[in-house]
Amino acid sequence: QATTPTPAPDSALLLPAEADGCPFDPPSAYRQAADRSPVTRTRLWDGSSCWLVTGYQEVRTVLADQRFSADGLRPGFPFLSPGRRQLATNTPGFIRMDDPEHARLRRMLTTEFLVKRVEALRPALQRIVDDTLDRMLAAGGPVDLVTEFALPIPSLAICLLLGVPYEDHEFFQQQSRILLDTRSPGPAVSDAQRSLLSYLGDLATAKRRAPTDDILSRLAVRDDLATEEAASMALLLLIAGHETTANMTALSTLALLRNPAQAARLRAAGPAEAKAAVEELLRYLTIVQAGLPRVATEDLELGGTPIRAGDGLLCMLSTANRDESVFADGSELDLDRDARRHLAFGFGVHQCLGQPLARAELQIALHTLFTRLPQLRLAVDEEQLSYRTTMVVHGVDALPVSW
Ligand code: HEM
Repeated sequence: QATTPTPAPDSALLLPAEADGCPFDPPSAYRQAADRSPVTRTRLWDGSSCWLVTGYQEVRTVLADQRFSADGLRPGFPFLSPGRRQLATNTPGFIRMDDPEHARLRRMLTTEFLVKRVEALRPALQRIVDDTLDRMLAAGGPVDLVTEFALPIPSLAICLLLGVPYEDHEFFQQQSRILLDTRSPGPAVSDAQRSLLSYLGDLATAKRRAPTDDILSRLAVRDDLATEEAASMALLLLIAGHETTANMTALSTLALLRNPAQAARLRAAGPAEAKAAVEELLRYLTIVQAGLPRVATEDLELGGTPIRAGDGLLCMLSTANRDESVFADGSELDLDRDARRHLAFGFGVHQCLGQPLARAELQIALHTLFTRLPQLRLAVDEEQLSYRTTMVVHGVDALPVSW
């Protein structure tokens, strides 16, 4: 039972914090909070306060314990922006639900992303990567690696798996950018969400009548799932399935261009080393830069800190993945490191469903890019690059390269 009064928030730290310094490091405000304590009190844009959880063990504890709820409709749930609040309260996907409802919906998708299933997809993924790279080379340098390579690969892959026409990519990429930007006003987020749900709902209705061999068809024909639920699950997959891997590919490329010795290791890597290299890049870059939000459903203690029922928490994966007690010299990129314990995909019941797919895409895309283009280099000064500091998922806006 918590008895001590909740401490006042650190008024110097307003979330989300602006990124500063090295583009691969968490904002200094988060690092300073982590240096003070693994659990600190902080203030949000709407004047409310919540706990900032920055330590590795503490983040794992919260994400593994279902007394910390992911349900955005519960009082006290911490939102990073008005748009994020809108998104979680309009038509929440299962990422914002607790068990048993979350488990009921997630179970319908688990076989789709099993490691074995994804391994069988590798030849198709390699073809997507090769074709995309061929098109980029044919265009001639310099090109923007984000639009010509990093974004098309996961978009093509998720379209193929879901059964969404790739011709519509400009529409859904544009709408997801609105959903994932913490600056988007609430009404803009609602509009983007509504138009995506109606697009995917129409597609689900068509597939219910004439099913094809894809995830949306398999969801659409189920008797225990309404069309709106199928559309909401497809929306989660579509957005999570392309934005994350795309940003991870571009930011990894930049990190490797900055570290030629590490890039050489990736070029020389066999399949096992390439897998380990991607785990280290996932840890080092931790692109989900917004804290994973939870709310306590009962009074409890977290690393000695009393937490009350109704207190919001933000789990900072980026500082957890640099926790020196788990990853020595965590601020260094070291592709030889065993980084498998990283939390870049979260932890617990909501741990990333698409991680086998993301891993396969990243391994194939990065290894192919660096082996086929040994002369790959930045086509602008690094100071000219700008970063996605206000987005839930970190990345570089554009990455002009030549080879
Ligand atoms: C959940 C990261 C790629 C689908 C998550 C979570 C994280 C994450 C941190 C946990 C959210 C939470 O607990 O609140 C990433 C990263 C990726 C990636 C870093 C790429 C590098 C993908 C892909 C897909 C996907 C390719 C789908 C094809 C999902 C889904 C969830 C999720 C459906 C919700 C799971 C649930 O609530 O049970 N992801 N993800 N992700 N991810 Fe990913």
